[in-house]
Amino acid sequence: MGKQARAITEIPLKDIVKDLTKAYADEWLAHYLYWYMAQIVCGKAYEDMKELLKKIAADEKEHAEELADLITKLGGVPIANPMELEKNANAPYIMPPKNGADINRIIRIVTEAEASAIDVYNKIAKKTFGKDHVTYQVVVHILAEEIEHEEMFENLMER
Ligand SMILES: [Fe+2]
Ligand SMILES: [Fe+2]
Repeated sequence: MGKQARAITEIPLKDIVKDLTKAYADEWLAHYLYWYMAQIVCGKAYEDMKELLKKIAADEKEHAEELADLITKLGGVPIANPMELEKNANAPYIMPPKNGADINRIIRIVTEAEASAIDVYNKIAKKTFGKDHVTYQVVVHILAEEIEHEEMFENLMER
């Protein structure tokens, strides 16, 4: 980030990097959780659920990439050690069900994780609105995808 870009940013960069780092940790935990559940899911209609979990896991990894890129541009360093991810996350890792046929539990886990992601990005969007346009734009784009994820799984619950 150049001099003028820093000059127009009205929030301390350190502060933004801290929030983005926590969100980055969340994304990796979500990616791993969904990816893992995609591997173990079984039982009725498991193929659809497997595909959906794989797709959303890929989205979460993409979010981690977008955040890593932004953190780097803002002069920060993304978390290097995977052991540090949970400590730095906004929420603890949610344990997946032992039974891969427990589709209801999987749906509840995903909707809980998505609701928490929506809260996280909503807060960062409000904080950066009108003050750090670049971060705001990235965060709102991710927020829109988390909203879509929540809806996909809420729709499954209503079935
Ligand atoms: Fe995400
Ligand atoms: Fe998501």
